[in-house]
Amino acid sequence: MAKGGRPGLSVPELIVRKRDGAKLTDDEIHGIVRGFMNGSVTDYQMSAFAMAVYFQQMDFDETVALTLAMRDSGKVLDLGVIDAPKVDKHSTGGVGDKVSICLAPIVAACGVTVPMMSGRGLGHTGGTLDKLEAIPGFRVDLSVREFRAQLRRVGCALIGQTADLAPADKRLYALRDVTGTVESIPLITSSILSKKLAEGIDALVLDVKVGRGAFMKTEADARALARSLVRVGNLAGKRVSALLTDMNSPIGYTIGNALETTEALEILHGEGPEDLRQLSFELAAEMLRAAGVERSKARARRRAESAVEDGSALEKMREIVSAQGGDPAVVDAPDRLALARHRTTIRAAQDGYVTKLDALELGYASMGLGAGRSRSEDAVDWGAGIRLHVQRGDRVRKGDALATLYASRRALVGPGADRTASAIRIGRRRPSRQDRIIATIRS
Ligand code: URA
Repeated sequence: MAKGGRPGLSVPELIVRKRDGAKLTDDEIHGIVRGFMNGSVTDYQMSAFAMAVYFQQMDFDETVALTLAMRDSGKVLDLGVIDAPKVDKHSTGGVGDKVSICLAPIVAACGVTVPMMSGRGLGHTGGTLDKLEAIPGFRVDLSVREFRAQLRRVGCALIGQTADLAPADKRLYALRDVTGTVESIPLITSSILSKKLAEGIDALVLDVKVGRGAFMKTEADARALARSLVRVGNLAGKRVSALLTDMNSPIGYTIGNALETTEALEILHGEGPEDLRQLSFELAAEMLRAAGVERSKARARRRAESAVEDGSALEKMREIVSAQGGDPAVVDAPDRLALARHRTTIRAAQDGYVTKLDALELGYASMGLGAGRSRSEDAVDWGAGIRLHVQRGDRVRKGDALATLYASRRALVGPGADRTASAIRIGRRRPSRQDRIIATIRS
C-alpha cells in the first residue's frame, strides 16, 4: 500500500492530482479527511475531490485508505469484552426490504452477536428504523453505552447510526447527495464500510441489490460494487462477503412500515412469503458461516431454520423488543400493528399473468401514501403503505384484487392508486422465473 507521498502538497494540488488520474498515497488521503473534519479542507474542496474521484476512480489501496480515514474520524467501538463472534448485515437498499427485522434475531439465536446499525427510508426505499418504530415504544436511539450493554445481555441490538461513528462519512455523503457524486463505487464502498468497521464487528455480510428498485440498475454495476466491498473489507482486515440479489420487484407482499414489520415477524412464526424466507435464511447462513459457527453453508442454513422451528428466534425477538422499550405482545400477534384507515383495492382489468411489479414505482407510490419521506427531515406514517395480493408470475382473472392501499389522508389514496395501478402489468404469457439470489461473492 502506498504510504508517505510527496511532502507538503496543498489541498488544491491533491485535487488536481486526482483530477488528472494520479494515485494518491495513504497519507494524502488521511490528510484530506483530517482536514475536512478540522475545517482546513472546505466543503467546496471536498466536493471537488469527490467529483475527481467520481471521474477518475480510486484503486483498492486508495479506497482502503479513504475507508479507514473515515472510520477513524469518530469513535470506533471496542466490543472485545464480548466473546461471541460479532457479525452485521448491510443492504444497499430496496423496496419491501424488511429482512433485517427477522434476520437479526435468527442469527442471534444461533449464538452470534449482531450489532445492527440501520438507516431510515428516503425516496423510494424504506428504512429498517422506521419499520421498527412501528412497534409501539420501540427505541432505536440507544446510546453507545446502552448499545454495548444490550449486546452483552441479549446478543443483538437494532439501532440507528450514532453521530459519533464515522462522522466524516455523514458530512461527505451530504455533499455527495447535492453534487452528483453519489454513484461512485469507491465512494459508496468507503461510505458503507467506514460506518460498519466503526461498529466493532468481526465480519460483515452485504446484500447488494440490483434492478429497478435498487441503487445499482445493472448486474455488471452491482457485481463491481459487491467485489469492491468484499475486497476493501478484506484488505481492512474483516471477513466480508456479499449476496447479489434481485430488486426488480418488491420483497414479499408488503411495502410500508407496519405492514413490513408484520410480515417480517411472520417469518419468525414459520410463516410468511417464500421469497422473504429464502432471502432471510440465505443471509443468515452466510452470517453464520462468516462468524465461523458453521463451516458449510448448507449446515448453517439448517441451523438458522431450526432457530425458527424451535421458537428460539421468536424468543430472541421478544427479548430485543422488550430491551428496546417496545411492546413484546406485538411479536406474538404481529397483526396488532395499526394500519391507516383510508383504504382502496386495485383489481385486475383483464385475465392473464402478473408480468411486472415495478419496485421503483411501487416504492414511490408507497412514499406518496405517507409511508416514506422525500426529504430526510420528513416524518413517516407507520400505518401507510401497500399490501400486494400477487407476486410476479401469478395467474389472475379480471376483477381479482392486485393490491390494497392504506393512507391516513383520504386525498393521498387516489394518486397512490393511479401510481400503483401503472406499476403492475398483466400480460398473456407467464414470465420466466427470477430467483431473489443471483450470486454469492467472497474473497
Ligand atoms: N449507502 C451508503 O451508506 N453510502 C453510500 O454512499 C451509498 C449508499
